[in-house]
Amino acid sequence: MSPLRIALLGYGTVGSSVVHRLTRADAVRDLTLTRIFDRRADVKRRAHADLRGVAWTTRIEDALCSDADVIVETIGGLEPASGWIQDALRAGKSVVTANKQVIARDGECLLRLAARQGRQLRFEAAIGGAMPIVRAVADGLAGDRLTRIVAILNGTTNAVLSRMDATRCAIDDAIRDAQRRGYAEQDPCLDLDGDDARAKLAILCGLAFGLRVTPEEIAARSAASVTSADVEAARRDGATIRQLACASHDAADSTLTAWVAPVAVPRHSIFGRATGPQNAALITGAHAGEIGVSGAGAGGDATAVAVISDLLAIARDRAAIVPALILKPPKCIRGFGEIADFRIQISDCESRMSDSFLAEAV
Ligand SMILES: NC(=O)c1ccc[n+]([C@@H]2O[C@H](COP(=O)([O-])OP(=O)(O)OC[C@H]3O[C@@H](n4cnc5c(N)ncnc54)[C@H](OP(=O)(O)O)[C@@H]3O)[C@@H](O)[C@H]2O)c1
Repeated sequence: MSPLRIALLGYGTVGSSVVHRLTRADAVRDLTLTRIFDRRADVKRRAHADLRGVAWTTRIEDALCSDADVIVETIGGLEPASGWIQDALRAGKSVVTANKQVIARDGECLLRLAARQGRQLRFEAAIGGAMPIVRAVADGLAGDRLTRIVAILNGTTNAVLSRMDATRCAIDDAIRDAQRRGYAEQDPCLDLDGDDARAKLAILCGLAFGLRVTPEEIAARSAASVTSADVEAARRDGATIRQLACASHDAADSTLTAWVAPVAVPRHSIFGRATGPQNAALITGAHAGEIGVSGAGAGGDATAVAVISDLLAIARDRAAIVPALILKPPKCIRGFGEIADFRIQISDCESRMSDSFLAEAV
């Protein structure tokens, strides 16, 4: 079989790590990078004169109409990324994307289009960096009836909150530290406010429960107002604060409870142990019980692992069909219910969660 030909859209943090993996001396076999599209391809090409056999372009058509078998999308944002993924599928390419926003909004339609075209759309990198949660939920646990997912899904917020805990610093100092280390954008609001985790949780609700949920339907409390006093109070209780994303599904009455919020978790739980940009998840099934996964949740190199894994899955079986999601909306979506403010929320969630599962996760 000839190697899988790959065109990359977007040479940024993730894209450049993917290129590095595909082109260095011990490059992954069976995968050949042929093209890089980027709006500043002219500048970036000059800095990478050593990349041989790869054509750089600023014209999207050059990538979409090339002989590539797969388009890797690492541009980010909703548009034009979503439109270009559609164009790629229509042009008969499979697509690998790291874009949670696109998958949360358009994933259902795009997967249908891919199946109609006899091509694959894979998006392991869109959730959890190198933590293989998409495969865990969609494939590995497909034989169970999943009832709950509780997870740290945002590496930036985790880096900030775990830094506050480790150094007892104020949140602004922890944000500056995360920015210095490349874990946080200049404006970390989408991460701290929970928007990023809501998009990822919405995708997981589709994969795990077959529910069509938009990120906006998921309740969120910002982690931006967590103070060092809150962290100290949690510490006195043997806990630490993490941004958790939680979704539980009651199939009997088609009710989904879903929220993202800063929560005090036991220090030695899978969540308390996740530091820096790590992610972690506990997935509960009716038959298998609890399954935990954790690992590097962000960063170019970690996320490139998920991209390369998707490319290898396509290279192994080019004719495979990634099933289109058959989703229906839940009858009822609940958020926090009675939880009124952050302090109550900490103790409320802590006692409720330690009863149900966090204690066993130690
Ligand atoms: N970074 C992570 O740790 C991480 C982890 C998981 C998933 N992801 C996802 O991966 C995707 C990429 O993230 P990233 O951190 O690599 O972003 P990034 O560093 O900003 O890279 C995006 C690249 O795309 C280029 N680009 C943006 N808009 C373009 C357009 N309209 N036309 C052509 N090129 C364009 C950018 O060019 P400029 O250089 O000119 O801006 C940049 O090179 C996003 O969907 C993100 O959510 C990222």
